[in-house]
Amino acid sequence: MMKKIVVLISGQGSNLQALIDAQQEGHINGKISAVFSNKEFAYGLERARKANIPAHWLDAKHYSDPAKFDLALQQAIDHYQPDLLVLAGYMRILGSVFVQHYIGRLLNIHPSLLPKYKGLHTHRQVLESGDKEHGTSVHFVTEELDGGPIILQAKVPVFKGDSETDLIQRVQVQEHNIYPRVVNWFTQGCLVMLDNAAWLDAKPLPLQGLLDNHYTHSL
Ligand code: GAR
Repeated sequence: MMKKIVVLISGQGSNLQALIDAQQEGHINGKISAVFSNKEFAYGLERARKANIPAHWLDAKHYSDPAKFDLALQQAIDHYQPDLLVLAGYMRILGSVFVQHYIGRLLNIHPSLLPKYKGLHTHRQVLESGDKEHGTSVHFVTEELDGGPIILQAKVPVFKGDSETDLIQRVQVQEHNIYPRVVNWFTQGCLVMLDNAAWLDAKPLPLQGLLDNHYTHSL
């Protein structure tokens, strides 16, 4: 059975595009049923429309508190009965009721080597700290912000003289590589969250060093 995927975005949607491309190339055992944004002019909505995927936006300003917004979003998402909810640059904090509703079928990608640099401005913090490496992490979402079980990480080097834009671009190349893989593992039924830990083919995660080929489970 093809799994139903809903994607949440707030911005450019380059990770959404990587997922759309992977789906179109037959690399994901699932179908992106809908895309939701909290920003009206998020370019990702345009990408969804171009791919004939229903694209919606909800304005938080129309709701009296974050919990009411989350509930409206949840109800709109559940119209599509998703097997998997994918956060792809969704820049709003989700409340605990929402997170619990989708627990175990809710993924996020975060632009740092978690547990380092949770929250915002990760690239800037890497530069300010003088780190030699940086990267990205895909994880299951739990109520702890950017703190859920890590599934897969990819590292990139930090070069002398790098700007924030250089780092964003270098990290995103890796994001577009690893996120479709993880989504595919989930849709194949190989990836699960159990007791606040991530498991792939009954082996504990995270997998480190995608680029060093330390993993064997391919697309
Ligand atoms: C991505 O780099 C993602 O890691 C980051 O936002 C970017 C969205 O880019 N997510 C977060 O910072 C979440 N805390 P995109 O809209 O082009 O996919």
